[in-house]
Amino acid sequence: MEITLDAPLDMHLHLRDGDMLKLTAPLSADFAGAVVMPNLVPPVAEPAQMTAYAERIAAAMDGREFRAYMTLFFTPMSEAALRAAQQTPGFFALKLYPAGITTNSEGGVADLAQAEPTLRAMEELGIPLLVHGESHGFVLDRESEFLAVYRRLAQRFPKLRICMEHITTAAALRLLDEFENLCATVTLQHLLITLDDVAGGALQPHLFCKPIAKRPEDRDALLQAALGGHPRLFFGSDSAPHPRCKKEACGCAAGVFTAPVALPRLAQLFAENGAADRLQGFVSGHARQWYGLRVPSRRVVLQDVPMPVPAAYRGFGQQVVPMFAGRVLPWSVKA
Ligand code: NCD
Ligand code: ZN
Repeated sequence: MEITLDAPLDMHLHLRDGDMLKLTAPLSADFAGAVVMPNLVPPVAEPAQMTAYAERIAAAMDGREFRAYMTLFFTPMSEAALRAAQQTPGFFALKLYPAGITTNSEGGVADLAQAEPTLRAMEELGIPLLVHGESHGFVLDRESEFLAVYRRLAQRFPKLRICMEHITTAAALRLLDEFENLCATVTLQHLLITLDDVAGGALQPHLFCKPIAKRPEDRDALLQAALGGHPRLFFGSDSAPHPRCKKEACGCAAGVFTAPVALPRLAQLFAENGAADRLQGFVSGHARQWYGLRVPSRRVVLQDVPMPVPAAYRGFGQQVVPMFAGRVLPWSVKA
């Protein structure tokens, strides 16, 4: 069996920088393009930094066709500064992190009230807002506690397109259905695993990410929404590579590296649920429609031919362990 996709997109990707970028960029290029996160050190907050980063990404892709939809780390910006960003080639959106909520987010927003003038200008200019939606509360409740913030943003800025990034709960899906200006991304791991897979037996550092995987009923609701073709639910891998020594460590870094296994595992998931025809929308069509993206056509064929997943990917002095390391996936990308 084969599934042919046109221009699959990953709507939430961490490519990092330096040697890690050189290693992970080609491993992320099964996709025709991706929304690239700005949480470098220091964060990508200025158009000039963004342009330079986009050039390093293109160099690391080494001739592969790949469209990087660049984001700026949200800081208060004037309307003139937002206009300048909007005119910078490759710019896609602003990514808002509550201060200190995840990897390299220390410079994020501490007081949302101070973000409002920027949000108002973004709404007028049609710039999308991507949000890491977690509170600083108890780890299992961080996303549900943040839903009140999403609700307020959706009400106060009805024309602002707001993306709830990497949702992990059934409650977030219900909110999605309440407001037409909300969309959401969901990762591969949150369609497959629960907290049990992370910490129910021997601790699995390579499945530890933020937001943490939740309850079976959350996972099931997310899966049903994805398989059912929810038009405002997009695939965003949140593939977040960290050096092996930072994952297999006391104080394990948050992030699951899924870029090279995402499309094969999604093909398996959709095929075994009789929803192969819905995969195109989930990995490309819905996001293109919602954001009005014009993506160059690129055919990617997935086939039910096994893919052995290496124990680790190595290169440029880096080592990173993917999800399903050392296992054999039943589907693969056809060369
Ligand atoms: C991401 C990272 O490592 O940059 N980690 C993660 O667990 N998802 C940051 C993020 O998206 O929260
Ligand atoms: Zn992320």
